[in-house]
Amino acid sequence: MKKDIDWKNLGFGYIKTDYRYVSNFKDGKWDEGELSTEDMITMSECACVLQYAQTCFEGLKAYTTVDGRTVCFRPDLNAERMIQSCERLEMPVFPKERFIDAVLKTVKANVDFVPPYGTGATLYLRPYMFGSDAIIGVKPAHEYQFRLFCTPVGPYFKGGTEAITLRVPDFDRAAPHGTGHVKAGLNYAMSLHAIVDAHNQGYSENMYLDSATRTNVEETGGANIIFVTKDNKVVTPKSTTILPSITRRSLLYVAEHYLGLQVEERVIPYEEIKDFRECALCGTAAVLSPVGKIVNHGEEVTYKYENGTGEITQKLYETLTGIQMGRLEAPEGWIYEIK
Ligand code: PLP
Ligand code: COI
Repeated sequence: MKKDIDWKNLGFGYIKTDYRYVSNFKDGKWDEGELSTEDMITMSECACVLQYAQTCFEGLKAYTTVDGRTVCFRPDLNAERMIQSCERLEMPVFPKERFIDAVLKTVKANVDFVPPYGTGATLYLRPYMFGSDAIIGVKPAHEYQFRLFCTPVGPYFKGGTEAITLRVPDFDRAAPHGTGHVKAGLNYAMSLHAIVDAHNQGYSENMYLDSATRTNVEETGGANIIFVTKDNKVVTPKSTTILPSITRRSLLYVAEHYLGLQVEERVIPYEEIKDFRECALCGTAAVLSPVGKIVNHGEEVTYKYENGTGEITQKLYETLTGIQMGRLEAPEGWIYEIK
């Protein structure tokens, strides 16, 4: 039986669920892994993650479909991206098949927490890994833990689906040849001051520019960005210092193959954003959130929408969520059913 939760009024927060998946790496190998009811972690005060932030994570969701099935969206791509993060951070790789198995097992064990269809809520899954043994000289850990917990969530931004305002901050997110393209915890640690400052000034998120030249659009702290041109082309920044969003890759496919739109992944000079008709943030948590305004040191670029969101943005949103919730046929391999 589903848990007694006010699904329709959930925000993006943590609710402890019954089971999480845990596997430990020691003496050069992963143990078998298991579901656990223990949500607390005990480790050395000198654990590498606590001293040198040796940790990476992923984010994906499970959904209840229109016909009552429980499904996950493209967990294979999260597994692959986590492998890339681990390689960049000198962490052992958690094998792709085991990652997918952990996703399916954790969702199945917590199926009563998967929000019912039509509530607007989903089950957010958070796989992560960290160096757990005592490390004091700057070097990687020898022992690691892979964990995966889940929590039911509502919309990422306060105000639900209302168009948000971004600001261009004086802070950078990622350096050339740094870690911006992987999902390292450290990328988020260094964004915390920028996000608090943005919120204090009334903005929902920071829109980072490339740190080398501060001339091109990159992404926000927790999502990629898409724009729609006046002739309905879907355009998204190409950069080696942004996270390769699975939502963005899926949206570009949907735009091209379901909606017959032209798509372009290319460098987008900040100067150009005033020429676009629509802007939105895309990501697992953000889904596809319309952007109404971008503020750069007092200079504003505004996007005007008749129905609260852009016309193409709305079509993309409906098609993507239609695929995720079983209203539309999915491309081969996108949907993993939990049985
Ligand atoms: N960019 C950043 C910095 C993120 O944290 C996220 C969230 O995962 C994304 C983009 C979107 O990626 P995805 O669509 O794979 O969730
Ligand atoms: C996600 O969308 O999964 C993210 O990781 C974004 C944010 C919650 C960090």
